[in-house]
Amino acid sequence: MKAMRIAEGVYWVGAIDWNLRNFHGYETEKGSTYNAYLIIDEKITLIDTVKEPFKEEMLARISSVIDPAKIDVIVSNHAEPDHSGALPYIKSIAQNATIYAAAGAGVKDLTAYFGDLGYVGVKAGETLSLGKRTLTFVPTPMVHWPDNMVSLMTPDNILFSNDAFGQHYASDERFDTECDLPEAYIQARKYYANIVQPYGMQTGKALAALSGLKIDTICPSHGVIWTQHIPDILALYQSWVANEYDDTVAIVYDTMWHSTEAMAHAIENAFLAAGYKPRLYNLHYCHNSDIIADAMTAKYIAVGSPTLNNNMMPSVASFLTNFKGLNGNKKKYIAFGSYGWGGQSPDQVYEALKSPKCEALMPAVKIAYKPSAEQLEKIAADVSEALKNE
Ligand code: FEO
Repeated sequence: MKAMRIAEGVYWVGAIDWNLRNFHGYETEKGSTYNAYLIIDEKITLIDTVKEPFKEEMLARISSVIDPAKIDVIVSNHAEPDHSGALPYIKSIAQNATIYAAAGAGVKDLTAYFGDLGYVGVKAGETLSLGKRTLTFVPTPMVHWPDNMVSLMTPDNILFSNDAFGQHYASDERFDTECDLPEAYIQARKYYANIVQPYGMQTGKALAALSGLKIDTICPSHGVIWTQHIPDILALYQSWVANEYDDTVAIVYDTMWHSTEAMAHAIENAFLAAGYKPRLYNLHYCHNSDIIADAMTAKYIAVGSPTLNNNMMPSVASFLTNFKGLNGNKKKYIAFGSYGWGGQSPDQVYEALKSPKCEALMPAVKIAYKPSAEQLEKIAADVSEALKNE
């Protein structure tokens, strides 16, 4: 386990979690990394740590460069345990190290997790000289916890951005210039959609705070380091924060005997005819977090469920819980579903989707038992009409 040099005197000393497949419900099919960075200057500095089970991996990487007991400064940009879990361990070795975190929320959260390890709170614009280099701290509250901050190191112009611009993407390559770049963008989008999306307004403020700074390298706390593609990842973040739409439509459903599925296809036909690119997601096969990532830039979403025991299907309830918590982009919606008797599910879906961010395109669509060809044509015609009236 060796450190990886990323710039003169700056090393990646994190951990690769090849087997991570679930990050509180978010399916991480590519694993992840927990990125910690070591700076060799007059003050030996560690930026963030790793998830607790990976503490020995981090220690081995630090030890390949320097005696870890010599660390003078530890910066905790974010107290979530995937970055702070190894903090007590490294502090027990680097006993003279001072731990810096955001004044207020950062110190509070670290104290709640680990007790008093002697934290020093830092405020917006505060600086810390490491010798030849200086760290400037920029709070980024709610991107995505109250305590988040980023640290800019000059004169190297390296931004330690923590979760911002991260990707759950395990790889041996550390840089955007070496990795499978399309995969890095896919994972950056999925990460934003499933972690950061509810806090678009705060993310916009963070981007504005960073906009005047010269940044040559972005070192996030997950995934690859951005060097040659900084304008591209910044532009993607700007477009997501601006809630820009594409021409896709998310049609999400579960089905028992293919009746709700047939309704989904009728809705698909209407959107196709109107020039959109509908994408269908059967919840039996598709993971919520992939749908959330795809649907982020869709203007329309349709959600369908058969009625099962007077309720929507549990898979649909699970998706709606995820969607309601994460959706940050205003959408028009269609609720639909089939039933044998009772028939409560379409109205339940309709009510569940109603929110300041989501407005119904049309009343809930319901069909008893198996929809006839005429009924499916009518569904498509009703959706087309509703779209024309937009
Ligand atoms: Fe990667 Fe919010 O922790």
